[in-house]
Amino acid sequence: MDNMTFVLFGGTGDLAKRKIYPALFNLYIDKKMPETFSIIALGRKETSHAEFQQVVAKSLETFSRRKANDQAVLNAFLETIRYAALDAGNLEDFNKLRTLVEQREQELNIPDNRLFYLSVAPEFFETIAFNIKDSGLGSTQGWKRLVIEKPFGRDLQSARHLNEQLGKAFDESEIYRIDHYLGKPMVQNLEILESSNPILKALWSNHHIANVQITASETVGVEERAGYYDHSGAIRDMVQNHMLQLLMMISMRLPRKGDASEVRMKKRNVMESLRPLQMDTIAQNVVRGQYAAGEMNGKRVPAYIDEPGVPAGSKNDTFIALRLWIDNYFWSEVPFYIRTGKRMKEKSTRIVIEFKEPLKGQNTNNDPNLLVIEINPNEGIFIQLNKKDPLNNEKLEPMRINFYECGTDLPEAYENLIHDAVRGDSTFFAHWDEVELSWQYVQPILDAFEQDLIPLSYYPAGSNGPEASDQLVAADGFKWWLDK
Ligand code: BG6
Repeated sequence: MDNMTFVLFGGTGDLAKRKIYPALFNLYIDKKMPETFSIIALGRKETSHAEFQQVVAKSLETFSRRKANDQAVLNAFLETIRYAALDAGNLEDFNKLRTLVEQREQELNIPDNRLFYLSVAPEFFETIAFNIKDSGLGSTQGWKRLVIEKPFGRDLQSARHLNEQLGKAFDESEIYRIDHYLGKPMVQNLEILESSNPILKALWSNHHIANVQITASETVGVEERAGYYDHSGAIRDMVQNHMLQLLMMISMRLPRKGDASEVRMKKRNVMESLRPLQMDTIAQNVVRGQYAAGEMNGKRVPAYIDEPGVPAGSKNDTFIALRLWIDNYFWSEVPFYIRTGKRMKEKSTRIVIEFKEPLKGQNTNNDPNLLVIEINPNEGIFIQLNKKDPLNNEKLEPMRINFYECGTDLPEAYENLIHDAVRGDSTFFAHWDEVELSWQYVQPILDAFEQDLIPLSYYPAGSNGPEASDQLVAADGFKWWLDK
């Protein structure tokens, strides 16, 4: 792994403290960082290097998966960090930053490999990218990389604009777009699961699969994020990125474990095969919901509309369910259902694959075979089969076989992704093609919301979403599996 400098914009922010420093520290403990590296944290306020190192120490104490038992290891990590105040719009500050970066490169005798991590609001992406270029910070003999996190635009047009602008300072191969769902260990396992297991591979197509259900339900409400969320809704916050990435990961067909370019190509193939939504039938394929007041864990919680900061009369979507079709050789005629929402009964991200019942009609009403992939908060894989009820020969009952349950001390998504970005492996980052095709797919939904073509269904907080979402799958003769 190349020695390098990690330049963190937004170094005093919440994400940096909760996720990024702990990720870097855990990688350091695990010896997954380069032998010599420099971290430069940037924020608005003036603070000394030493004071800032203590801020990081505090964040590690609070948020790190592993604690520093050995003070010398902690000190050595903190010693890699320098802090500088920077105004993102001020080129002069970038010139000073370049001097600091170069000075550290000389002190540590490391090449000018630079990773710029933008943990800042998206409205700063372009300005920072330009200032990196104009200050010469990006003119390196070694490599340079830009790491950014969603949202990448708020519709197809703005996403294209942003991409064009970033493209003036960084090449596509240098841009690492984080979708933290792609960093989750079980999501990283999906490509292996299908490509390396002949049993599953043999069943992995429309011959045997009846439908695929992808759920990401959350128990939290809008929290303190109404300002952002009310303009974004579940469609931009979850569907355009995380949910469609899960869809790509579960449905792409890899001949073997693929490298970054192969995975990208396969994901793009999926997106290109998605049947576009048509305005005249969109309401039959998309359910838009918003949580009403309800009960969660014995406590009354308010409706979305009564949450602090939510504008009166907001029609924002806190829930989306969607039926999609992948019109290719493997998946044609298999409905994929996506469902995500806030203030739902349980926190669960999972994929359920329901297998066809070959004896349908002749047989009883057996439960179908299911392959269940639990992604979050529990990780695991189980399969549901049928067996005879030992006390009643006439009856079949489902049994579950747990293939795999993960331990609890796994690397967090950010750890995996930062490690990959530092090593230059972009397999689990969102390539522009995927981002663009996702916006392209979602754009008719945004337009339909604007034109009020899709009714807003309300669901009580603490439920499994609006009834319309059950009807969506029932219309095809199915039901959502594993709803508690
Ligand atoms: C974020 C969304 O990207 O993902 C949040 O902005 C959401 O609204 C979160 O709560 C869910 O992530 P996870 O990892 O808890 O499923």
